[in-house]
Amino acid sequence: MHVENKVVIITGGASGIGKALVERLVKHGAKVVIADMNAQAGEELTMELNEGKEHKVAHFVQCDVTKSLQLVSLFTAAEEHFGGLDILVNNAGLWEVSGPFFGIPGSVVDADTIAAAHEENTLRRVFPWKRLIEVDLVAVLEGTRIALDVFRKQGRGGLIINTASLQGVNADPMVMTPAYVAAKFGVVGFTRNFKGLEQGLLYEGKYKGVRVNAIAPGTTDTAMLNPVRQIIKDTRLQMQTAEPVVDAFMMIIEDDSISGEIFKVTPEEGC
Ligand code: NAI
Repeated sequence: MHVENKVVIITGGASGIGKALVERLVKHGAKVVIADMNAQAGEELTMELNEGKEHKVAHFVQCDVTKSLQLVSLFTAAEEHFGGLDILVNNAGLWEVSGPFFGIPGSVVDADTIAAAHEENTLRRVFPWKRLIEVDLVAVLEGTRIALDVFRKQGRGGLIINTASLQGVNADPMVMTPAYVAAKFGVVGFTRNFKGLEQGLLYEGKYKGVRVNAIAPGTTDTAMLNPVRQIIKDTRLQMQTAEPVVDAFMMIIEDDSISGEIFKVTPEEGC
């Protein structure tokens, strides 16, 4: 699929990997619906991307991907502002910092909340694992379901890419993030289950040209790692920028033969 003029929804598109992908896609002529809880970052990015353009190339929707109605509103926005949908990137995510490696037991949080909770010393009490599973796994299932429905109705194929994690393939016990691992293993298994969706006997050709894939990045330098940046430095853990991760997204978009695959992108392994 050529990126030019394609309409892409990216959840968690206001920061880190999602933001880098948004910028690359717009550079290559795509139109993006940026979905994020962080309104300030999302609106600023959208303004920057649209500046000086004759036609709007980006639209921001403030959205919590765990809220069904807000999730549906992304697809409505893609239709209203850009006339349909070609690609959904389920990328919004929270990370869990816990266990002996990071020395912070039993917490499930996003970067800003970890920092705030550290200050208030409320880290252990505040965050249930359920929230992480809802954001990192359930919202991926729900977004995929809606996108498949849209693609079936449009009848011109489509692509879903889920941001999993290397932890969703390796479950490295040195980085003790059990709920995150469970969620990301879920994303990996869910994605693999769609291999051959197009030919699936049960689907009777309803999903012709529709593909579902996932990326499994290793440690990537984004806001998500802010609370453990010093530990990463001290332990000399290798970190990559978001760019090779974005390269893998672009490869999946452009190669129509890739379906039901998980692409690892790590400083050690490449993609
Ligand atoms: P980030 O923290 O820079 O970006 C995550 C974005 O998701 C933020 O803008 C945040 O506001 C948004 N978000 C969080 N919960 C949301 C919700 N309920 N609804 C809507 N938006 C929400 O982090 P990063 O690293 O860019 O993370 C993106 C994805 O990459 C995540 O799924 C993460 O698990 C995954 N990942 C990141 C790795 C890393 O080392 N940074 C490694 C492997 C995977």
